[in-house]
Amino acid sequence: MTATDSSQPRIARVNGPLVEVAGLTEVAMYDIIELGESRLPGETVAIRGDVTTVQAYEYTGGLAPGHPARSLGEPLSARLGPHLLGGIFDGLLRPLTGAPAWLEPGHPFTLAAGHDEFGFTPQVSAGDAAAEGACLGSVAVAGGIAYRVVLPPGMSGVVERVRPTGRAPGDAVVATISGIDVRLTSAWPVRRRRPYRERLAGSSPLLTGQRVVDVLFPVLKGGSCAVPGGFGTGKTILLQQITKWCDADVIVYVGCGERGNELADMLSELAGLTDPRTGGKLSDRTVVIANTSNMPVMAREASIYSAATVAEYFRDMGLDVVVVADSTSRWAEALREFASRNGELPAEEGYPASLASALAAFYERAGRVVTVGGLEGSVTIIGAVSPAGGDMTEPVTTYTQRFVRSLWSLDRDLAYARHYPAISWSGSFCRDDTAVAAWYAGTGDPGWADRRSHLAGLLAEADRLSSLAELMGAAALPPRERATILAGRLIREGVLQQSALSSVDASCDPSRAAALTSAVLAVAGRCLDMADAGVPGATLEAQDFSPILRAREEAATPEAVAVRKRAMLARLGGLAQAPGPSAEATEPAGEAGDQDHERAGQDGHLGAA
Ligand SMILES: Nc1ncnc2c1ncn2[C@@H]1O[C@H](COP(=O)(O)OP(=O)(O)OP(=O)(O)O)[C@@H](O)[C@H]1O
Ligand SMILES: [Mg+2]
Repeated sequence: MTATDSSQPRIARVNGPLVEVAGLTEVAMYDIIELGESRLPGETVAIRGDVTTVQAYEYTGGLAPGHPARSLGEPLSARLGPHLLGGIFDGLLRPLTGAPAWLEPGHPFTLAAGHDEFGFTPQVSAGDAAAEGACLGSVAVAGGIAYRVVLPPGMSGVVERVRPTGRAPGDAVVATISGIDVRLTSAWPVRRRRPYRERLAGSSPLLTGQRVVDVLFPVLKGGSCAVPGGFGTGKTILLQQITKWCDADVIVYVGCGERGNELADMLSELAGLTDPRTGGKLSDRTVVIANTSNMPVMAREASIYSAATVAEYFRDMGLDVVVVADSTSRWAEALREFASRNGELPAEEGYPASLASALAAFYERAGRVVTVGGLEGSVTIIGAVSPAGGDMTEPVTTYTQRFVRSLWSLDRDLAYARHYPAISWSGSFCRDDTAVAAWYAGTGDPGWADRRSHLAGLLAEADRLSSLAELMGAAALPPRERATILAGRLIREGVLQQSALSSVDASCDPSRAAALTSAVLAVAGRCLDMADAGVPGATLEAQDFSPILRAREEAATPEAVAVRKRAMLARLGGLAQAPGPSAEATEPAGEAGDQDHERAGQDGHLGAA
């Protein structure tokens, strides 16, 4: 091919990541085009007559008019197979494990064939009829995952040949169905959702190990959730905590336009963490898609779809999958950057008019379904939103709130006060609380819904009274109202706060969360009763509540939490019986507290005051 060969497709214009190619024939929307000699990948985003507009996924420096271009004749497709588990990939699902520190432009799309081998066991025999979604065999993978090789959607027929039990490379043919080879690794266009037979209502919560989430704002398996929060409010830490501790089978983590060093830290941490389910490495169950801020902007756009496709692939094996995306705002910025270069009419704040539908299309890929093969699986999507300047009225935040089932809104004031996770109890919601309550009731905890509404009620009332107290001074409030403010504090510090760095409390299972909630509610209830019985507010406030407040950090089991609850109640009981409580009203938790320690200290579980 020479530079004067006018019949060949040529680059006509380069504008940042937007490249116009003249002379491409038979190209369809979203087809992958390779640009220039180094074959930079890009995606067809507009076709006007002879001119095809391509959105390049990589830095286009050095690309010039006249350079060649070539259509691959197919849309961007994810390469799906057992190599995904435990792997790290870029936004186009090209493996980064073992890649050089700096990727060369045009880094190849495919893994070297036969790079990895997997243990395959067939589950069909020659002569069997196989419908779409049928399980052809299984692959032994780490992480305790039932990895099924499923006949891809749209394929069916009679099994002609099956690969026998044994090691198989990633591109091995596992079966031949009516003349068509089915490989261990298959491809699927990332922008097309994988079909399913039927959509089901969610029924069980995703247990995240984060108390404020599990107790107040749960998300169902198959649900969707957004985490809006200003700069530094703890979005990344919260999403990483969920990646580490949630009870899904597979977790797809997308680092989208966020800091690379944070991702590197998480990866090394993940590699060192033990999976509570299997005793193996936690990273065996994760797929990490890295498109950090130092990587090409345009591949961010694709990374979100790649993640959804990977999740649906594992869902189709009958697994529960979670997609964690940090942050969808960086993804929306890529949409905006592209739209403005493409000369699209900007809508709100410069975002394209299609922003809302793009967000809806992403969150719509969450769901609990019956797969085409008749299995039950789910995809849960959790996305961080980072509104510039913490402005919750900006378009990405407002649209996202419309499409999700749960919202964990991170509050700047809480984060400044080092109340982590800084999930605001007044600004967050869960639309599936009835289903979650039914699940808890069915699994032996009928009190979940009551505890939740009790907690939420006290928190709201305490907030209202606190602002009143700020105006009038706490001393002006009657005892019961001061006790309510105290109850709010106990709930915040004893239940809602949870340090990601704690060895005991980084993750909290439902039984311990229930024990802590009940303990704090019992102590708060006792304080309210005592206020009603005439114990002055100042006396109650002066008590040392540290045994119950520190239970979350120090009491590792529900039993240990219950011991502290009894000790704390006994201590308060002593106070109610003490003559003339008003006499100590203004005294700090000095001597009275010490006596109480002796009384309750028999349990041996109390921390020093
Ligand atoms: N659960 C937690 N436990 C302890 N510390 C936390 C927790 N959550 C957040 N932090 C603290 O808050 C800091 C900022 O958190 P993080 O990086 O997650 O914020 P972010 O919202 O992702 O910020 P950015 O907007 O810059 O991406 C962390 O470095 C950590 O010190
Ligand atoms: Mg962050």
